Amino acid sequence: MASSAFSRLPGFRDFPPEDLALRSLIFGAWRQTSRRYGFLEYDGPPLEPLDLYVEKSGQEIVGQLYNFVDKGERNVTLRPEMTPSLARILADRSRGMSKPIRWFSMPQLFRYERQQRGRLKEHFQWNVDIVGESGVAADVEVLAVGIDGLRALGLTSDDFAARVSDRRLLTAVLGALGVSEQQLPGTFALVDKSERQPKEKSRAHLTDEVGVDPSVADQVLGMLDDSSIEALTERFADRDDVGAALEPVREYIASLEAMGLGDFVEVDLTIVRGLAYYTGIVFELFDCKRELRSICGGGRYDRLLELVGGEALPAVGFGMGDVVLGELLSDRSLIPEYQRSLDYFLVLISEEQRPQALGIAHRLRESGKSVAYVLSERGVAKQMKVAAKEGARRVLIVGPEELARDSVLVKDMVSGEQSEVGLDELT
Ligand code: HAM
Repeated sequence: MASSAFSRLPGFRDFPPEDLALRSLIFGAWRQTSRRYGFLEYDGPPLEPLDLYVEKSGQEIVGQLYNFVDKGERNVTLRPEMTPSLARILADRSRGMSKPIRWFSMPQLFRYERQQRGRLKEHFQWNVDIVGESGVAADVEVLAVGIDGLRALGLTSDDFAARVSDRRLLTAVLGALGVSEQQLPGTFALVDKSERQPKEKSRAHLTDEVGVDPSVADQVLGMLDDSSIEALTERFADRDDVGAALEPVREYIASLEAMGLGDFVEVDLTIVRGLAYYTGIVFELFDCKRELRSICGGGRYDRLLELVGGEALPAVGFGMGDVVLGELLSDRSLIPEYQRSLDYFLVLISEEQRPQALGIAHRLRESGKSVAYVLSERGVAKQMKVAAKEGARRVLIVGPEELARDSVLVKDMVSGEQSEVGLDELT
């Protein structure tokens, strides 16, 4: 392989046509699914003021910003996520809009993360958000769009599932177990990490760093082993606050079951989500074998719009990245073989026919067909080879004798059949 003097930056991707085909397949499913649910597409600038993220997105994302000072002395950053941009766009225009607002977008995002499987420094992320509806029906709708987006690509409940939690429920449960209000942020952060580290380490963290009583720490970790609705209902039967916090989750699951999507959803309080702005139901989509990082994450964020200076509007949405999804599709052999295709390839018997061939090609293109031919002199055998390589369904052999009769020879590349066809009939 020839080496290049300029290598690609680590964590960034080139998209030659065979790789772009996968991206287009994913974008097609995302766009089509969004439209089936009545969402409208929007976009914003890839470069945003730094302040849009500081304090709103939380430390994890702020530590990963691709930020710099521009020539106008502005503190700017490449967008690491879309939600603050959405909030900003709506802050300026939501007042005159009918609610709820259903918008989707497929931005390229940038995060200065260490490259690893499923994590790059850029990715495309499908964002689907409903703004202006506080009822749980909006949460249901959003998760259903995400599930259906993956189903549109051929994935099933054997391949992926949504793990759902609710920050209000987790708060009530932790309170019932004896975690104090001051210990809540530290405990939330630990719950988020609990799955990725040994229980002993989590226990030590809770007691030594968060200051939770050892018996409370054991109860918290025990509760996380099974946080299904049934388990929580039984365990906290005497706690009205937990009972009330379970209600929206119960309604959420029942609605998804009514849609026929129950197999895709499970309640799991270890899902906290790293971003700071979530206020209610949160969820992440994972592959069932649990080999990959999360495919998608989202939830309710009822205060963000107000924070960026807009109307106080409740909102819920998700972001689904193309990187982990591409890996999952590849693991499940769901990526179609890359194939080039052309309606026609024109083969010239000699260069003398080029002017007529150009006329024929152009008329065919005007009628919407895809047409190609060699751009410099080649023998007929070579031209036939190129036609096959480019995936032409039909070859038009443009020769002097047929042209004299206002026709060409048409060869069907699948059946091999060949016949003479008049130019009028062809175009
Ligand atoms: P997030 O969890 O930060 O959420 O990202 C959502 C998804 O984007 C992840 O599950 C993952 O598939 C993908 N992703 C994130 N970072 C990377 C990376 N470095 N490389 C590849 N893929 C990545 C958000 O961004 C929220 N703003 C989503 C949201 C929309 N919440 C409400 N509306």
